[in-house]
Amino acid sequence: MTKLPSIGQPINRLEGVQKVTGTAKYSGEYNVDNLLYGYVVNSTITKGKIKSIDTAEAEKLDGIISILTHENQPSTAWFDLQYADMDAPPGTVFKPLKDNEIKYNGQPIALVVAETFEMARYAAHLIKVVYTEEEFSTDLSGNKGKAREPKKGLASMLKPPPPKPKGDFGKAYQASFAKIESDFTHGTEHHNPMEMFATTVVYEGKEKLKIYDKTQGTINSQMYVANVFGLKMKNVQVIAPFVGGGFGSGLRPQYQLFMAVMASLKLKRNVRVTLDRAQMYTFGHRPPTLQTTKFGADENGKLNAAYHKAIGETSQFEDYVETVVNWAQMLYPVENTLLEHELVPLDVYSPLDMRAPGGSTGMHAIEITMDELAYKLKIDPLELRLINYSDIDTTSGKEYSSKELKECYLQGAESFGWKNRNPEPRSMKRGNKLVGYGMATGIWEANRLLARAEITMTKDLKVEIKNAVTDIGTGTLTVMTQIASDELGLPIEDITFLYADSKMPFAPIQGGSFTVATVGPAVQEACRSMNKRLFNKAKVLKNSPLAKAKFKEVIFDQGFIILKSDLNVKVSVKQIFEENNLKATQTTSTAMPNPLRHGKKARAVHSAVFVEVEVDEELGMIEVKRAVTAVAAGKIINPKTAESQILGGMIWGISKALHEETILDNRFGKYMNANLAEYHIPVHADVQDLKAIFVKEDDNFVNDLGVKGIGEIGIVGMPPAIANAIFHATGRRIHNLPIHFDQLI
Ligand code: MOS
Repeated sequence: MTKLPSIGQPINRLEGVQKVTGTAKYSGEYNVDNLLYGYVVNSTITKGKIKSIDTAEAEKLDGIISILTHENQPSTAWFDLQYADMDAPPGTVFKPLKDNEIKYNGQPIALVVAETFEMARYAAHLIKVVYTEEEFSTDLSGNKGKAREPKKGLASMLKPPPPKPKGDFGKAYQASFAKIESDFTHGTEHHNPMEMFATTVVYEGKEKLKIYDKTQGTINSQMYVANVFGLKMKNVQVIAPFVGGGFGSGLRPQYQLFMAVMASLKLKRNVRVTLDRAQMYTFGHRPPTLQTTKFGADENGKLNAAYHKAIGETSQFEDYVETVVNWAQMLYPVENTLLEHELVPLDVYSPLDMRAPGGSTGMHAIEITMDELAYKLKIDPLELRLINYSDIDTTSGKEYSSKELKECYLQGAESFGWKNRNPEPRSMKRGNKLVGYGMATGIWEANRLLARAEITMTKDLKVEIKNAVTDIGTGTLTVMTQIASDELGLPIEDITFLYADSKMPFAPIQGGSFTVATVGPAVQEACRSMNKRLFNKAKVLKNSPLAKAKFKEVIFDQGFIILKSDLNVKVSVKQIFEENNLKATQTTSTAMPNPLRHGKKARAVHSAVFVEVEVDEELGMIEVKRAVTAVAAGKIINPKTAESQILGGMIWGISKALHEETILDNRFGKYMNANLAEYHIPVHADVQDLKAIFVKEDDNFVNDLGVKGIGEIGIVGMPPAIANAIFHATGRRIHNLPIHFDQLI
């Protein structure tokens, strides 16, 4: 039995054993009866039209059930209507097999359905497609002159546009004692979760579907299928109990879902469509981005002018926006700012949120510019951050609900040994290697949305709680169980959190680091409402010792309702069930931020990152020897799963700084390294001494739990801290990502 309180304990993931023993089932692993297998054919050109698509040879093979193309695809409801999923940018959602038009390289153009996956894949290669090619462009740098403001769509409160200019940037910059102007380039990246995108559709008759989908939002996929195929919501159930990594790739319904449902409805059969690794590069990515910064400061290091412009890529059909340039004035109290974000539409698929979308891109530029300013002013980079410290978000003038970033700087620096740094570049050596120390700040939003939760308690005091949220590997199941445990005063063993099913009460997509702050309060509220119900029944028991008590005067502990002021006065919850002749009781609650209150303060999580690199100039190697990230993110429910989130983000930061990039050959409009052999990510040898520190941060404003969210903050400050450490080691300032050794020569 685990001890109470559960919150704060480093409890192992409740589904951990299932995951490491292979009994956890992923969406492509449900072996239902009479299953058919689909394999997707993708366009080999980038732009143009399909002139003809010849499936005759493929159809001749035994075991081929159907080949669906734009010519014979069954009509779907949505071709007549505009439907936007929960993470859709302004524009028109891509419609697979709509017509013969090719919009991007790798676009799905046909689905082969066969008795086996292998047959389907083999047959797919026998399909002959003749195209009429048209001119295209996929080159961001070559087209940056065409950058324009993004179209406005449904205003997404999660993706605020750049704030309006403040003060007079031009004048203030001109007058600045120290000025830094820099350009940054940032490559394309793909999410590459371990689990391939897959959907298994169980045809339950009469257009009723049970769907196992790889997704970060069961209700998002359910709404998509119901709208696109004109089905009743109640006839579409989407389930995703295990998700083998999301990182944003599952925030939108992907085309394998469309394909599998289309085939299932047409054939009235169970169908599974699984993508392969190369196909994982055909539905969204972190966009390449060009940035320019101009920061001006006075002789004491106080920032007085900041310009930050980003030019990002988007598709021809949607305007993908992310928050790239808003961060400098959220972090630093700078009074004269000009912040701009523009897009260049190119012949690619729409970019897609990828861990800390925009933040990890923008903070790279901001925090390198700050380092350059520190060198120019001969001020220690950490000192420069402290000189420009503020408890207020300069954008709105609002105070942060909590901001323990100063503690992050201090504890991080202490743990890392920042004071041992000799500021002179190329001054620190270990053997024949150059050693560099670099630091950077991280920031991410602390958002919260609406969620609902249902709770059922049975007379043996076992509890089930339901919510449609997924667990993309972050520990959601474990953390929600901990929250319920404390609220009910019952051990986690007695609580079952049921989740990842669209039939359960509402949860938004799992992303943006807002899951615990959104679903957590719903779970807490459901438990409270159960407690209130039990308390009201306790009061009216015959000779109840709690007859005169008020709800706030009692606690719930191990199956008893106890008077706080006299712990001997209590009522057994089991007795309440018995005397009321109840087998079980159930209630559902909604939790959302109070709209009148929520906007009164600025809300963000912060981090301070310290990195040591070694550069071997003879062998051409850059190694991140150690890194410390100190995080202020409110209450940490589970230090173990939280640490994993931060370490995972830090490793991704190493990857972003030194390894990963999808290379697009602009002559073909095609990603050339769509595989894990050539898409480089860190291996064990690249991941050395990493440490995450959680700084104590009390926040009773964001929600009653005081949680803010830690999914994205781990990655944000790492790339600039690494780039700054490389500068310190070598004296070379590299402004693009990823950094390869040849740029240091
Ligand atoms: Mo995250 S990019 O919000 O899954």
